[in-house]
Amino acid sequence: MAWTDYSSAPAPGTPVCEAARVDGVLSLTVTTDRGAFPMLLVRTGGGLRAYVNACPHQYLPLDWRSDRLLSADGTMLVCSAHGARFDILTGEAAHGADCGLDPVPVSVVDGTVVIAG
Ligand code: FES
Repeated sequence: MAWTDYSSAPAPGTPVCEAARVDGVLSLTVTTDRGAFPMLLVRTGGGLRAYVNACPHQYLPLDWRSDRLLSADGTMLVCSAHGARFDILTGEAAHGADCGLDPVPVSVVDGTVVIAG
């Protein structure tokens, strides 16, 4: 499923948060007139990544049971409901799930993370 398939997907250009807030993994909800859109922002060695915060298995937020979402080596996002793992750089399923997280394009404009197009 593409992030734009969510009815609450924000329009390109929608501000998400201050980029400085993203230290490790940040779970937040972007609310627009389209509704509430749950997101995970991740600071990686390869730059900022963003995903829809809905695991492809149960459509639960990954932090449903715990806010400890990074694997010990920092390379994987871990669903707190049953431990499935997703590559932090791509969202692809690495273990315990058939499909991956839905990436959301973001960019940083004047220190603010915004939805990219
Ligand atoms: S409950 Fe989230 S991946 Fe299984």
